[in-house]
Amino acid sequence: MEPHAARPLEGRLALVTGAGQGVGRGIASCLAAAGATVAVNDLAPTRADAVAAEIRDAGGDAFGLAFDVTDADAAQTAVGDLEIDILVNNAGVPPGGGRPNRFAQMPPEDWQLQIDLNLAALMRLAQLVIPGQAERGWGRIIQISSGASSRGLAIGVAAYGAAKAGGEALIRHLGVEYGPEGITANSLALGLMEGVGRAGDPAVDRLIRGVPIGRLGRPQEVGEACVWLASEAGGLVNAQVIHLNGGTVFGR
Ligand SMILES: NC(=O)c1ccc[n+]([C@@H]2O[C@H](COP(=O)([O-])OP(=O)(O)OC[C@H]3O[C@@H](n4cnc5c(N)ncnc54)[C@H](O)[C@@H]3O)[C@@H](O)[C@H]2O)c1
Repeated sequence: MEPHAARPLEGRLALVTGAGQGVGRGIASCLAAAGATVAVNDLAPTRADAVAAEIRDAGGDAFGLAFDVTDADAAQTAVGDLEIDILVNNAGVPPGGGRPNRFAQMPPEDWQLQIDLNLAALMRLAQLVIPGQAERGWGRIIQISSGASSRGLAIGVAAYGAAKAGGEALIRHLGVEYGPEGITANSLALGLMEGVGRAGDPAVDRLIRGVPIGRLGRPQEVGEACVWLASEAGGLVNAQVIHLNGGTVFGR
């Protein structure tokens, strides 16, 4: 048996989108702690640079790579010349939260933005990194998805859920199409994460009561799952949607 590598991602270059805060920040720091060099993307350059600096201060290797993932030219310019081994498509919440709304009242530009951010950007970045990954015979593509992809919720997130479900479908196809070339593709579908509302708020307490383990998810836990999927130890996992939600039961 091979011993477990202490830094299983040594020598890999990872791109984490929307990593200037929240879940993406946790993913970026875990990948760096596992030995990857991390390109920290965000719409906000100050946030991308701050997370990259935080990682370097902790002894990791990272740089800020700010661009708008919904902008095709900006993505091509930023990523075109980089040899990205691990792509984590985490950006999925527009600035301001994406204005959840009952679907019939949702302005077309709002639902279009959900599709641009959660589906088209994933397609575009996958197209940018897959050719190099295939040439090198190794790659990882991870979509950060949501339970909203596979359950109906009456909280104004129909377009978001539909776009995430489209991303999961794309991932399944990519995993099967490119598995023979050494590339795996998987989705991590998150339940509610810590940071929504205030602790002690009755609405948050109600949400927590719906989670069998009695608490919400933490960015570090998503990061550790990404490390596993991206490492050799996770190489058998391909074309899957894995729910990180503490066992929250599906259905209405
Ligand atoms: N927080 C939750 O409860 C939860 C639950 C399920 C799934 N998720 C998923 O987890 C991921 C991260 O969510 P979060 O809660 O950490 O979000 P967040 O709002 O805390 O952070 C999102 C980051 O993405 C950046 N961003 C937004 N649009 C961008 C763009 N066009 N290009 C580049 N960067 C952009 C923002 O500037 C921000 O820094 C998302 O895909 C989200 O759908 C979150």
